[in-house]
Amino acid sequence: MGGYVPFSRITAILFKMVLKVWAYSGLVLVFCFLLYYMYGGIFAVLLLFFAVTGILYQVQDNLLYSPELPSHSRVYVPIPSMFNLPYESVTTRSLDGTQIHMYFIHQPEQRQRNAPTIIFFHGNAGNMGHRLQNCAGLYHNLHCNILLVEYRGYGLSEGSPSEEGLYMDAKASIDYLSSRKDINHSEIIIFGRSLGGAVAIDLAVREEYTNKIWCLVVENTFTSIPDMAKVLLGWRMLQYFPLFFYKNKFLSYHKVKRIRTPTLFISGMADTLVPPRMMSELHNRCSSIRKQLLQVPNGTHNETWQVQGYYHSLAVFFQSCRLKNIQKYDIKTDNEKMQDAGSMWNNVHTI
Ligand SMILES: *[C@@H]1O[C@H](CO)[C@@H](O)[C@H](O)[C@H]1NC(C)=O
Ligand SMILES: *[C@@H]1O[C@H](CO)[C@@H](O)[C@H](O)[C@H]1NC(C)=O
Ligand SMILES: *[C@@H]1O[C@H](CO)[C@@H](O)[C@H](O)[C@H]1NC(C)=O
Repeated sequence: MGGYVPFSRITAILFKMVLKVWAYSGLVLVFCFLLYYMYGGIFAVLLLFFAVTGILYQVQDNLLYSPELPSHSRVYVPIPSMFNLPYESVTTRSLDGTQIHMYFIHQPEQRQRNAPTIIFFHGNAGNMGHRLQNCAGLYHNLHCNILLVEYRGYGLSEGSPSEEGLYMDAKASIDYLSSRKDINHSEIIIFGRSLGGAVAIDLAVREEYTNKIWCLVVENTFTSIPDMAKVLLGWRMLQYFPLFFYKNKFLSYHKVKRIRTPTLFISGMADTLVPPRMMSELHNRCSSIRKQLLQVPNGTHNETWQVQGYYHSLAVFFQSCRLKNIQKYDIKTDNEKMQDAGSMWNNVHTI
């Protein structure tokens, strides 16, 4: 008996509610209609802008990171022995615990301890195995060890890519090298191509790592992702987009100003993806007293390393950095050595 409510009571309450909702929603609808009537154009544009930017923000990662290109890149990673390179397959934990995969490609034992070691950061597509032919060239021409780094979300590394994540993986790679007792820690070279160039620049300007790096080499890399978006999309509207709109920024343009490490900028003049002027801008803004812009006439975005003379130019650059080291202690012949380095330099301008 107690909980019984007459049916008529319920319908009455429901009816009241409907009336209320009707009244309120009617008012809101009238208000919206009036707004739309008066400011409809602006409204529609704002709504569209909101929706489009929302979508763009989410797809940015997919546009920038292409670990699945070519297909099977996340499962099949070519191994250095396919190019007759002795190596160790290494896994290490990045700073947030993500497990990343690397190849430590090393010179024969007696040479390994004296040789320079290059940390290689690759571009935005495929996996590190796709760079092995290039690594073989570095290995045989420069007689160096190479630590080939697989970013998170690429190849067999765990996780998914992000700007902060890639920076963490870079730190983890140099931390890993620091733990090895069998290399020359005075000659650690950071190399980055394209997206890897931005990763390399970030690492080189971090206080706790600057002193561990002997030389920096960046190739066909961009000034920033917002700049690249302007180039690729060609929308004039983009220049009004605030920076927070970009999920991935990679602001090398600002960071190069803090570089103190000797730096070689390799710019393929036939690069149709990253405009070569971006490499010139980076070189101009770089604060290092030892910096060089190497412009390779027929160099394309991915294949500048295939142009004849490429490895020789790298060798000359590293040799000049060694001479610089000696000069610090050998004041007598300072001028002579400067001249030597200078004449070598002249040959390097174009290859
Ligand atoms: C390591 O590199 C430094 C700097 O170039 C050089 O002076 C030194 O001789 C190298 N050490 C070995 C063991 O080769
Ligand atoms: C660039 O490539 C073209 C055609 O392959 C060749 O004729 C030209 O000599 C090359 N230029 C240089 C500087 O290597
Ligand atoms: C460079 O290579 C990647 C794959 O390795 C490819 O997706 C990209 O289109 C290439 N870029 C150019 C400009 O050839």
